[in-house]
Amino acid sequence: MSNRMWGGRFQSGPDAIMEEINASIGFDQRLYRQDIAGSIAHATMLQEVGILTAEDKDAIVAGLDHVRAEIEAGTFTFSRGLEDIHMNVESRLKELIGDAAGRLHTARSRNDQVATDFRLYVRDALDTLMAQISTLQLTLVQRAEEEVSTIMPGFTHLQNAQPVTFGHHLMAYVEMLGRDHGRFADARARLNENPLGSAALAGTPYPIDRQMTATALGFDRPTANSLDGVSDRDFVLETLSAAAICAMHLSRFAEELVIWSSAQFGFITLSDKFTTGSSIMPQKRNPDAAELIRAKVGRIMGAFTALIIVMKGLPLTYSKDMQEDKEVAFDALDSLSLSLAAMTGMVADLQPRRDRMRASAVVGFSTATDVADWLVRQANIPFREAHHITGRLVALCEERGIGLEGLTIEDFKSVDARIDSRIHKVLSVEASVAARTSFGGTAPENVAREAARWRSALTGEAAEPVAIKRTRGHGEGGLG
Ligand code: ARG
Repeated sequence: MSNRMWGGRFQSGPDAIMEEINASIGFDQRLYRQDIAGSIAHATMLQEVGILTAEDKDAIVAGLDHVRAEIEAGTFTFSRGLEDIHMNVESRLKELIGDAAGRLHTARSRNDQVATDFRLYVRDALDTLMAQISTLQLTLVQRAEEEVSTIMPGFTHLQNAQPVTFGHHLMAYVEMLGRDHGRFADARARLNENPLGSAALAGTPYPIDRQMTATALGFDRPTANSLDGVSDRDFVLETLSAAAICAMHLSRFAEELVIWSSAQFGFITLSDKFTTGSSIMPQKRNPDAAELIRAKVGRIMGAFTALIIVMKGLPLTYSKDMQEDKEVAFDALDSLSLSLAAMTGMVADLQPRRDRMRASAVVGFSTATDVADWLVRQANIPFREAHHITGRLVALCEERGIGLEGLTIEDFKSVDARIDSRIHKVLSVEASVAARTSFGGTAPENVAREAARWRSALTGEAAEPVAIKRTRGHGEGGLG
């Protein structure tokens, strides 16, 4: 049987292999809601401008509502022979309302139809992802507020560098996610134009009103060039590139969770809800969710790569190649959504082991920079020389197998006579973080202020910085 949507000049139907390679209904049935919304907007506009009678338009809208209900009830039979969601819906509409269904496709083509459906789908996905990002950010802010004074080692090269607070570390991800949110918002603003009415590629002789369908579908305006309207897939690429960057951020955090939950670090315990055991080693608690989040960036970046290669070198306007945009995008957007949900759950449930973090922050002479800074500030020694003197103090500690806190004032003076007993005030990790009050620095009061700022940005409510608990050594003078 030749196709009843376009079979006028065809004598035979497609080869079975042709049907298999050509059909998209297996995956584009996800677009049913957007497809039906687009058709209702189109039919309503056609009637408003006098192309459809009110009677036909009412039959079409009622029929489309019925089709949507059937799909949602699971009673709709999708047919591969009808290729895609557009023809499946239209064919069922014809069964339901008869000939009036054939008037719906006036002044439109599947080319502008699919471009419209997919924009609407990606726009919905962006809205969901942005809401999920905000939820994860708020969860991080909550945990950061609990940990404003918790000392942990800060790393460069994964080597102990300087002490920071756990709250500050968590807030770093709130910043990254804020930029991810901004990239999604930008992509949404740029995609929000209506391709419907571009028709096959050249526009249409019918007196359609594209602003009317734009408004009905929540678009800001119609696309200004019909060729571009049907052939653009930037909106998917831009979304996927922002998604890949967001997934990369989650991957870095996931890697930290994996490291921190190891026996060697022991900075956190992940909850039973987001870990698995081993069938052979009873002691194990494996951070599978974190590992999978760490990995998802691969397929999300893969989707971007796949689609940009599909699009590269395609002449204007529509080519069937572009049907390959959907599966990869669906997979990538689903993967990012799942990753955000899993990360939010893990962050909400993880238990910090503050004693372990602090103990780890002390090792490796992590307050050596504070000693050098003290020499600059209190003894007026140039930083380069102060660095050298501190290096000799560290060497002395290494020789004795002690930390900087273990040196007596005589030890200090033996290295440089200009040092006096006030140096002891800067040796603790608490003093080190408390001193870092420069804008964006790790001092607990900064972290509390930043957390409050983000909390009110995310909730729209005024928020006060959390009170800082005084911990051991805290407030002992900073730079003295
Ligand atoms: N299933 C097609 C797609 O996803 C719809 C557009 C088909 N257009 C065409 N001229 N064959 O791209």
